Amino acid sequence: MTSTQPAVSPATLREVCGRWVTGVAVVTGTDHGGQPLGMAVNSFTSLSLEPPLVLFCPASTSSTWPLIQQSSRFAVNILAEPQSHLVRSFARSGGDKFAGVPLRPAPDGLPALAGAVARIVCRIEDVHAGGDHQIVVGRVLATELFEGDPLVFHRGRTAGVALPVG
Ligand SMILES: Cc1cc2nc3c(=O)[nH]c(=O)nc-3n(C[C@H](O)[C@H](O)[C@H](O)COP(=O)(O)O)c2cc1C
Repeated sequence: MTSTQPAVSPATLREVCGRWVTGVAVVTGTDHGGQPLGMAVNSFTSLSLEPPLVLFCPASTSSTWPLIQQSSRFAVNILAEPQSHLVRSFARSGGDKFAGVPLRPAPDGLPALAGAVARIVCRIEDVHAGGDHQIVVGRVLATELFEGDPLVFHRGRTAGVALPVG
């Protein structure tokens, strides 16, 4: 069904944009006391190669993002296919999101999720307004790559990478 209606409700827009396939990442950081912070995002995307910039969009209602923002740095942990259980943990607001989550040591001091397929360490370059979200631009300071297939998010569900078409 195709439809072009004058007013687009949040539910409709969510459903339509849900047809866009993304990965899932956990943006991590630390608070003033060095406690780990994290939130699941699928708004992550690359922005620029030279200079190296990426972006993601935290909701204005996020309680985690303002705390990470104070430290001026964040890490993007791109989830692997077997990590779908972590999406629920890090999409929750409040509680100990890191309970039972295996971390590995990282020289930058930002929480590093063991088993992620890639990790990108950033310094906050810019934060722009974007409706009920913000657009956070990160300057890439370091990257790490690991073996494994990424987790996919589509129509509100996680999945593995589909076989190539054609
Ligand atoms: C697959 C998936 C993708 C998400 N992507 C985003 C996102 O891009 N931006 C965002 O603000 N919230 C996103 N969320 C919701 C946040 O993870 C959730 O609201 C947040 O962790 C709430 O916790 P907080 O109050 O501690 O920030 C996503 C949730 C899921 C399940």
